[in-house]
Amino acid sequence: MTRKMLTSILLAPALLVTPALAADVMNTPEEKAMAAADEIITMRSTLAAEFIKPGAVIDEETFKKVCGAVAKRAKDITEKTGVKIRHAAVKNRNPVNAADERERALIEKFEADKDLSETWEKFDSEGKSFKRYTRPIFVEEACLACHGSKEARPEFIKTKYPDDKAYGFKEGDLRGIISVTVPAE
Ligand code: HEC
Repeated sequence: MTRKMLTSILLAPALLVTPALAADVMNTPEEKAMAAADEIITMRSTLAAEFIKPGAVIDEETFKKVCGAVAKRAKDITEKTGVKIRHAAVKNRNPVNAADERERALIEKFEADKDLSETWEKFDSEGKSFKRYTRPIFVEEACLACHGSKEARPEFIKTKYPDDKAYGFKEGDLRGIISVTVPAE
């Protein structure tokens, strides 16, 4: 018997009266959603800080190690766990990430309240109920290498994203949101 199984059995009666403990032993869809958002946000800032150094050449290879690697990992998590991860922005770069009406409202909410760190909402789609967990993504110094002034954008961005709107940010600006959708029980 594993330690985790043993812990579950020992804690089972306690869980009936103290639901707060449940997070320690269960991997609910909600926990999966929060873990996925957290991993993606942390991954992007860690990689940007690692690969964007003063004097470093910023090109498509750099992108593949930062936002490119993050997009790949998000896809990977979706395939492995079934949670649906989406990035959205009003000032988007990839057209796929253009905020829809609901996402725009969420972005405005985070814009208006910089202390708001997450939201949960329930919605129905095609007869099924879902829960959406959303977190804001903020611009850090390292992001400016590709999301700073329009002219300073690396060449590959200017050519590959003709409708790019994801520039002109300052450190601390809201860059967009990440949403993770899971089925609601
Ligand atoms: C090396 C260049 C580069 C750096 C550095 C970089 N990004 Fe990006 N970012 C891009 C490119 C290119 C895309 C478009 C990716 C795609 O086609 O899916 C993108 C897309 C995004 C998206 C998806 C939404 C959209 O507009 O398509 C977010 C969110 C984002 N970046 C945030 C950040 C943040 C936050 C940082 C710093 C922690 C950062 N980026 C650093 C190049 C970069």
